[in-house]
Amino acid sequence: MRIIIAKNYEELSKQAANLIASQIFLNPRSVLGLATGSTPLMTYAKLIERYHQDGLDFSQITTFNLDEYVGLPKNDPQSYHYYMRTHFFQAVNLKEQRIHIPDGMAPDLEVECAQYEAAIERAGGIDLQLLGIGNNGHIGFNEPDFSFEATTHVVELDNETIQANSRFFQSPEAVPRRAISMGIKTIMRSRIIVLLASGQNKAAVVAKALYGEITPAVPASILQLHPNVIVVVDQEAAQHLP
Ligand code: F6R
Repeated sequence: MRIIIAKNYEELSKQAANLIASQIFLNPRSVLGLATGSTPLMTYAKLIERYHQDGLDFSQITTFNLDEYVGLPKNDPQSYHYYMRTHFFQAVNLKEQRIHIPDGMAPDLEVECAQYEAAIERAGGIDLQLLGIGNNGHIGFNEPDFSFEATTHVVELDNETIQANSRFFQSPEAVPRRAISMGIKTIMRSRIIVLLASGQNKAAVVAKALYGEITPAVPASILQLHPNVIVVVDQEAAQHLP
């Protein structure tokens, strides 16, 4: 595991964008796994800058997002479809047919999960997966549990996650209770994983995930077993690292 400690959020975002850009330069047909949330927002902004300034070319790139809420239509401003479109997709030359996000409105969610997993396999697997980390140690929406979840599945969101994500909604009651998420197994099959964490409220969970016991009670702790993880944290999130 490589740990990069950036001075601040902007430097973290630059480093993350550099890692993704070099993946794209090395293999213009890369399959990228993408995350939403606050943390990667500036990473996407930096990638858009690289697209305009350096001609970073997304035209042959395939993307798979980690997760989506169940029950939110694609045009709902809180949906991850909407987030990705407004913060990234609409600003670069990705091809619509190579963009994948789980459909939280699918009539049969189990079928949707199986098809999503199959699509990742058909694409040849994920070359580089971008991750954030929840205050409770979740990655994707894989919440603390008694076992490490397998592949793409429907999850019940934790109260802690509902509270944390309610900042984007009008009230905690408006936050969907379920989501579709890539599973731990899906994430662990990625060839490279880039985990981002910013701010002092992530410091404790980052230390626990990277140096604590490997346990499904801290889902991100499984990353200690992945051969190719790059952690990019800012100084505030690195506070409790040894
Ligand atoms: C987002 C996702 C989540 C977030 C995590 C951290 O697609 O899967 O695991 O990465 O909740 O969110 P922020 O970055 O908002 O602190």
